[in-house]
Amino acid sequence: MSVKKSVHIKSYGCQMNVYDASRMEDVLAPMGYAAADAIDGADLVILNTCHIREKAAEKVYSELGRLRQEKAARADTARPMHIAVGGCVAQAEGEEILRRAPYVDLVFGPQTYHRLPLMLRELESRGRAVVDTEFPADDKFDQLPEAGKLDGASAFLTVQEGCDKFCTFCVVPYTRGAEFSRPVDPVLREARLLAGKGAREITLLGQNVNAYHGAHEGGGEWSLGRLIRELADIDGLDRIRYTTSYPAEVDDDLIAAHRDVPALMPFLHLPVQSGSDTVLKAMNRRHTAGDYKDVVARLRAAQPDLALSSDFIVGFPGESDRDFRDTMDLVRDVGFVQAYSFKYSPRPGTPAADMDDQVPEPVKAERLRTLQDELNRQQIAYNQTSVGRAMPVLFDRKGARDGQLVGRSPYMQAVHAALPANLLGEIVTVMIDQAKPNSLSAVVVADQEAVA
Ligand code: SAH
Ligand code: F3S
Repeated sequence: MSVKKSVHIKSYGCQMNVYDASRMEDVLAPMGYAAADAIDGADLVILNTCHIREKAAEKVYSELGRLRQEKAARADTARPMHIAVGGCVAQAEGEEILRRAPYVDLVFGPQTYHRLPLMLRELESRGRAVVDTEFPADDKFDQLPEAGKLDGASAFLTVQEGCDKFCTFCVVPYTRGAEFSRPVDPVLREARLLAGKGAREITLLGQNVNAYHGAHEGGGEWSLGRLIRELADIDGLDRIRYTTSYPAEVDDDLIAAHRDVPALMPFLHLPVQSGSDTVLKAMNRRHTAGDYKDVVARLRAAQPDLALSSDFIVGFPGESDRDFRDTMDLVRDVGFVQAYSFKYSPRPGTPAADMDDQVPEPVKAERLRTLQDELNRQQIAYNQTSVGRAMPVLFDRKGARDGQLVGRSPYMQAVHAALPANLLGEIVTVMIDQAKPNSLSAVVVADQEAVA
């Protein structure tokens, strides 16, 4: 083990970036890097970036501006600082980052972070910045050390990466690369390791997680549904979730898992993007609004308790008032317990950025407001239906107030309750007594067995 150093990683964007950040810590640990909570005093600061919408990249450049001052202030001290940019902005911008921010030391993409030790050694020996944004042929996951520390009782596990769908608005196929599924055995090994360290819940991650088709040592490939069944048998693992799914790829296996596997939580994030078939076609989505509603109906037939979330884009090029009304109709028809909605943001290099009929900003803003009003209304109404219900909550964080823990209901609602700290990491049955727009509060149910 070399000299003690520290690394601070700041992640933006999706949950996969959160997973990647913890794996970067695993890669750097053998080089003597301990994870640091703050930039102050860290030897290496990594911005693990997101490229999905415009502002995300601009935020990175302004954050870099601040880091530049910190780096300059520490230049001649005993603890100089190195700055690295990883993630999808790094993948998309590459050398451009060094042009706009020449004080950056390392630039690497989501597919090369397992080579961080090599990059750091190269930086040290050459004394100039290193850029590594290739899509290497080797499997990153084979090169990574075993998953290290566990951050709470709920863990992420990446099983699938990349995307071949090429929705015309989306940068993911360019930044994360082609669709790839990790083989079954290393996934199961990682899940057992996480459960052994105290994970009670695992969220399987992938940009198109339900496209999962991992090779199995015994021959053949496993679907996501098959994988979920196997994971449910792991001792100590009580809850399984997965995100993000593509509607056209929800198969019978997965639907059956929602019916048969109690550990599979009754919550699903299933992005639809739009309720207009014209817009869905222009987006190159391979489903219609009707297909989406059919999939939802089949899922609900299998698991009537299923709570749904989604992603929406308003103001996609060519979206008319009528198209937008179709989206509103779909929202009212399906009913969502929470959702993310965005104004269309043109991403350089994607087909939609060059389409005619870009929607004016004020129209996008107005539609977003209308959509979010309805989504918020649905979310509040759903939260209100939870009041008076007893449900098991996995408490995995301390609350803002003393003596309070925060956890997630089976339906992904944040739940606050007055509980002693020794119940952190436990699943406790609580009675929901109050609903707020974004969270619930609860009291402990005395007889846990009676309601569990
Ligand atoms: N399946 C992917 C989706 C990635 S992008 C995953 O979650 O891993 C997440 C969401 O961002 C998309 O579902 C879409 O609603 C939104 N989004 C992507 N590109 C966008 C753009 N150019 N403008 C606005 N929103 C966008
Ligand atoms: Fe992006 Fe569409 Fe794939 S939203 S991640 S290209 S399914």
